[in-house]
Amino acid sequence: ERTRVAIVGAGPAGLLLSHLLAASGIESIVLDRRSREEIENTIRAGILEQGTVDLLVETGASTRVLTDGNRHDGIELRFAGEGHRIDFPALVGRSVWLYPQHEVLRDLVAARLAAGQDLRLEATVERVDDAATTRPRVIGTDAAGRPFEIEADFVVGSDGSRSVVRSAVTGGTRGDLFREYPFAWFGILCEAPPSSDELIYSNSPDGFALISQRSATVQRMYFQCDPDADPDALTEEQIWEALRLRVPGTELQEGHIFQRDVLRFRSFVAPELRHGRVALVGDAAHTVPPTGAKGMNLAVADVVLLHTALVALLDDDDERPLDAYQEVALRRIWKAQHFSWWMTTMLHSTPEASEFDHRRQLGELRSVVESEAGRTYLAEAYTGWPLETRL
Ligand code: DHB
Repeated sequence: ERTRVAIVGAGPAGLLLSHLLAASGIESIVLDRRSREEIENTIRAGILEQGTVDLLVETGASTRVLTDGNRHDGIELRFAGEGHRIDFPALVGRSVWLYPQHEVLRDLVAARLAAGQDLRLEATVERVDDAATTRPRVIGTDAAGRPFEIEADFVVGSDGSRSVVRSAVTGGTRGDLFREYPFAWFGILCEAPPSSDELIYSNSPDGFALISQRSATVQRMYFQCDPDADPDALTEEQIWEALRLRVPGTELQEGHIFQRDVLRFRSFVAPELRHGRVALVGDAAHTVPPTGAKGMNLAVADVVLLHTALVALLDDDDERPLDAYQEVALRRIWKAQHFSWWMTTMLHSTPEASEFDHRRQLGELRSVVESEAGRTYLAEAYTGWPLETRL
């Protein structure tokens, strides 16, 4: 079996790439090991950069973001019992949108299916062979357990942090660039009205908390916890106590907690993003810790670049943009790695932090909120650097 582009992974990166390629007249097959229900119900972050929203709307991938999503013109940074607003439009003329990633996925799946996309779910990809040739192959078993082999002009790994495609690009795990953190987030979804108009990122002596939202009746909140914490070990009252303690000065609207999870933190960048005719995008190429919500936005930025490179390769036989993909993508990836690391380390407390470390951290937060330059850097990074489309 043959296709032009075989895309492994039907998350936001893979589906968006198939959407952009189709608009350029390039057919693809998208494969995923999960079912449609699992794909559409994966709970992830909720913040889209302005550029991500513009792209989704302009390409017709999602127009619901404008009607069902909510524009947020700022966030609150809270520390030492004080709240400080970062006003995005005033500082950088851009905003972000609260629109949960699973809604983006529902829109993308619906758009691709309506357009007749060849989407193969519950298909397990075992490996990618012949990356260094002009006929790379994806090998695996389909939903019925039958073996398949797809030969393509190009293979894309958009298969997440536990990518199977990655080893065809990097040859293994040697040279992986990563960092781990001594904490995690305890995340909840609860039935309650919003506690605040905007998101609150709170640093407290008891650790970090983030008050986010999902809708008028459902809220998403997180608090810093041990990476080995058991999500089922706490009662609802203990969870509310932990949250209240970490957001002093804000009265939380409490309600029934109907979903809970523990998110581990990791920063990771693959040593290579492309080998021959196989490339990586999104979490397969890099992972960021969640603080600042860069994950999906970064995946979108990779996809926009790779789309440009694939059109040049497949339509014009021009390999130069593809040769530039890794270097150009990595510039933004490392900026986002820095921002995610910075937001994380500025706001969380570590078990071994001394009194000096705590006070230095408050000094850092104060240098950001009391300086227009500091607030502007945060606003610029949070709302997203301009999307590059050319290579
Ligand atoms: C959400 C997650 C984040 O990591 C963040 O920085 C902001 C919001 C969320 O899930 O709503």
